[in-house]
Amino acid sequence: MSSNSPTRNGSRCSPSCILTIFGATGDLTRRKLLPAIYDLAAQDLLPDAFAVVGFGRRPQDETEFRSGLGEGIKEFARLEWNEQKWNWLCERIFYQQGAYGDAEAHATLEERLNGIAEQFGVAGNRLYYLSTPPEEFAPIIENLGIVRKAHKNDAWRRVIVEKPFGQDLGSAQKLNALLGRYFSESEVFRIDHYLGKETVQNILTLRFGNLLWEPLWNNHYIDHVQIVVSEKVDVGKRAGYYETSGALRDMVVNHMFQVMSLVCMEPPVSLAADDIRDEKLKALRAIKSLDAKGIAQNTLRGQYTGYREAEGVAPDSKTETFVALKLEVDNWRWAGVPIYLRHGKALEERVSEVVIRWKDTPSVLFNDGPEKLKSNMLVMRIQPHDGFALRMNAKVPGGNEIRDVRMNFDYSETFGAEPPEAYERLLHDALIGDSTLFTRRDESETAWAIVDPILEAWQNGPAPFEYTPSSWGPPEGDEFMARDGRRWHKPIGKEGGE
Ligand code: BG6
Repeated sequence: MSSNSPTRNGSRCSPSCILTIFGATGDLTRRKLLPAIYDLAAQDLLPDAFAVVGFGRRPQDETEFRSGLGEGIKEFARLEWNEQKWNWLCERIFYQQGAYGDAEAHATLEERLNGIAEQFGVAGNRLYYLSTPPEEFAPIIENLGIVRKAHKNDAWRRVIVEKPFGQDLGSAQKLNALLGRYFSESEVFRIDHYLGKETVQNILTLRFGNLLWEPLWNNHYIDHVQIVVSEKVDVGKRAGYYETSGALRDMVVNHMFQVMSLVCMEPPVSLAADDIRDEKLKALRAIKSLDAKGIAQNTLRGQYTGYREAEGVAPDSKTETFVALKLEVDNWRWAGVPIYLRHGKALEERVSEVVIRWKDTPSVLFNDGPEKLKSNMLVMRIQPHDGFALRMNAKVPGGNEIRDVRMNFDYSETFGAEPPEAYERLLHDALIGDSTLFTRRDESETAWAIVDPILEAWQNGPAPFEYTPSSWGPPEGDEFMARDGRRWHKPIGKEGGE
């Protein structure tokens, strides 16, 4: 476990560090963070000079804290349970109770961290993970700023901030300004777990690792783009949080905009974090802003029947659980190409995908049959059935019939092994200081600037359209597309849909 050399799969072992998780008794730590840390440990990607300290408001016995995390690992880790690996990790897990805004509690934490650092031979490196409710971010950051002053100069301090990163542009700017007071931008890791998904990263590889697409990836050939993230689950026990958030804040401004910018960005000059993020930012900045009329025509929200009965939800709640947007990246490559985004909870299926729909093939040769030729289409399946499918037309053997066929790539069939979990990749990247897959300050603020006017208009607008749970959203969502003479892509398993 102690090697500092690259491991078999070419990944780098992390440098020595203590990871402190604020909000450690929460679900995220048990379901995602510690299983990801275990998976890293199991691949020898953590050094012996490593420890995890959970910080939370609740009093918690350290032994129970460890065993609770052990159970979480058994249930949620990607890799098999290994007693030896767990023992290695278990003795490096600690718990510290305290209030997030209490300076004394932070001073005690710092002392504890120093003691643990000495015990395991960790240099001064510290990674802090903010996994608390967002109102606790500011007091924690202020206190981290205070303890930082006493910190050794040759070691690094980094902070990972969970979503929601702000509620609107103003609050995101405020949070960024506060972070900027104590941390440089290269030390701030705004997490967006969609960027940790292999299939999202593969958008870049698919686009820029193949010559084929580039000449066709523009408004000369593309008719429209659809980005869909539909979930089967409803808001469940998270209604209290969701009521203050809604679909636009919860999924669109972050995850879906990140996917959109990867689909629409120009080729970066290198794969360096800032070269990639510069291009993503440019794509976001090119989104055409919507005035009141534009918002009325190009945005639509829905709410599933029964949402208002959930605990913590107002009986007249206007919070949207479904959203459809039509946006335009107004630059030379994309001007005139609609980018449709659709997301909702309690929908028919759990599917995340990007659909690139090319224009119709010129109707000179093969369009004289009863069926019109289907246009070419690329479906990038983010989840499930990770992979992509390309729709083309082929001649059916015998006769003259032409039928659409699929070229299909499936991750698990081709590569066998299960890909790393998003949090595994992202935690490792933060440990080695690679911020490529994290949202930069200007990206987060630009994204909020796009949705702010929509949120404002919705606040004063009519109630969302109602829809039946387990449907594809309100019927008005279909009309939204029909107005443009189009329809939502219907995913059908691995084959990439109709
Ligand atoms: C989270 C949202 O960021 O992403 C949740 O807060 C949502 O509401 C989740 O369910 C979806 O993530 P995934 O990886 O299951 O698509």
